[in-house]
Amino acid sequence: MTRIFRAEQIKEAAQILRKGGTVIFPTETVYGLGARYDDEKALEKIFTAKGRPKDNPLILHIYKMEQLEGLVREIPEGAKILMERFWPGPLTLIFRKRPEISSIISAGLETVAVRMPSDNLAQRFLREVDLPIAAPSANLSGSPSPTSEDHLMDMMGRVDGILLGGDSSIGLESTVVDMTRTPPLLLRPGKVSLEELEEVLGQVDLYQSNKESYASPGLKYRHYAPQTPVVLLQGSDENLIKFINCNQENCVYVVKELVYRACGEKKCHLFYPKEDIDYAAREYFRLLRTLDNQSYDIIYITEIPILGLGRALMDRILRSSGGHTRRLE
Ligand code: TXA
Ligand code: MG
Repeated sequence: MTRIFRAEQIKEAAQILRKGGTVIFPTETVYGLGARYDDEKALEKIFTAKGRPKDNPLILHIYKMEQLEGLVREIPEGAKILMERFWPGPLTLIFRKRPEISSIISAGLETVAVRMPSDNLAQRFLREVDLPIAAPSANLSGSPSPTSEDHLMDMMGRVDGILLGGDSSIGLESTVVDMTRTPPLLLRPGKVSLEELEEVLGQVDLYQSNKESYASPGLKYRHYAPQTPVVLLQGSDENLIKFINCNQENCVYVVKELVYRACGEKKCHLFYPKEDIDYAAREYFRLLRTLDNQSYDIIYITEIPILGLGRALMDRILRSSGGHTRRLE
């Protein structure tokens, strides 16, 4: 049975986790499905609840720096500067792990991912539990990450507790950077952007999934995908408008304001009003779930400029589409 907790019942939710249960909790990025980092039975429950492949490692969540020392072998200089600047916040760093960290967490790698969330309820929950919490996103493996309370209903009966915390303020998962390499390697783009990382670190390498499939196991799986096929539409505004006006498929188009104004509300969904990329990021997973329930044959999504948070959003769009694109000449 899954027990539901509101913020004022945070102590009870923390008790369940401390006793070896699984508890979903809010963060500023997406909801996480947490368990004690030092209890292998509890860790196993995370994989079962999500249907997650065993070779996909988990992120450890902490609320104070002293907790980091017990998890990692060393803290590289670059990581110190990043933590100073971006923690608490939507940035996950990969370190060489201490041998006592379970291989269930690291999926057999010699490294471990750690992040310090900034969300107020997440911080209070971590303080109440007072142990690092291992947590992936709280969705069924492969489907869009949960960014609001109603998205957690998929997990009813699969976890021991859910701590409700409203809508996620960022709505895309944290930036993941491998700090065990020189230069550091950006594995997953997020709210902390490549440009911000480069400003602090100088050079940062970009993960390319076709070349380096070994770097971050989780990235090889199809992700964030609704049942309805998602296709990325590429082309000039002019070509997009022409295509949308002629195409007879039973589909919906997720577009920017200019195209929306030209093609109308009937077929299109306005993705980022006033080119507000933070808004689009926050809404993206919710949008996928909503459109998935409307029996379209295809969800077409148009391109976003790959800059700042736009890089993270394009990454998720590409993953949702499984790489399926259509170029309009
Ligand atoms: O925003 C977030 O990061 C959310 C919230 C709940 O904190 N968590 C999250 O976890 O997105 P998950 O498990 O859905 O994604 C973790 C990503 C995966 O792509 C995984 O492969 C990668 O981090 N990862 C974890 N440990 C790693 C390691 N040791 N080396 C390389 N990649 C790692
Ligand atoms: Mg995930």
